[in-house]
Amino acid sequence: MVYRKGDNGQAVDPAGVTPCGEARPTSEPVLEMSFEVGHYDFAAAGEAASRIKQVLRKLGMAPNVVRRVAVAAYEAEMNLVIHSVGGNILLNVDTEKVTIVACDEGPGMPDVGLAMREGYSTASDEIREMGFGAGMGLPNMKKCSDSFSIESEVGRGTTVTASIKIA
Ligand SMILES: Nc1ncnc2c1ncn2[C@@H]1O[C@H](COP(=O)(O)OP(=O)(O)O)[C@@H](O)[C@H]1O
Ligand SMILES: [Mg+2]
Repeated sequence: MVYRKGDNGQAVDPAGVTPCGEARPTSEPVLEMSFEVGHYDFAAAGEAASRIKQVLRKLGMAPNVVRRVAVAAYEAEMNLVIHSVGGNILLNVDTEKVTIVACDEGPGMPDVGLAMREGYSTASDEIREMGFGAGMGLPNMKKCSDSFSIESEVGRGTTVTASIKIA
């Protein structure tokens, strides 16, 4: 199932939603970086998002763009830590936008529409005690993004793509 923000129901371009490693926005990248994120690795959780933030600051991006990308990257990273077997975050910057692609190889989401609902979370009590599991991560990512999509298949994995326009 594919969820996209901003495509007004037209057919989904399969080139826009690609598996791990092949996820590439269409224009020529200015910068591309990949970060590994480990399942339940709370010691390192948040590092990818904070490095992404540093890189964008160094590139001289507008604070508002940096903030929106940082929020999307953090939510994506925490979802990999908490809900997936572990995965990767790809940062892609081109002349028009910053794209964050978070991908993993499991367990996948049975219902993407449900996962997108504010307050919906399958986080365990243990995770909730750590302060996570408010069910606002995916809705926040969507709010922060100019373009947003989720592709997920149970048993195969999930790819979440968020793009933020630079100008
Ligand atoms: N990478 C993922 N793999 C599998 N399920 C996921 C993934 N990311 C999110 N989910 C599912 O979507 C739900 C909602 O995610 P989110 O809005 O970030 O809330 P939270 O992380 O607080 O549970 C999660 O509880 C989980 O069931
Ligand atoms: Mg989350």
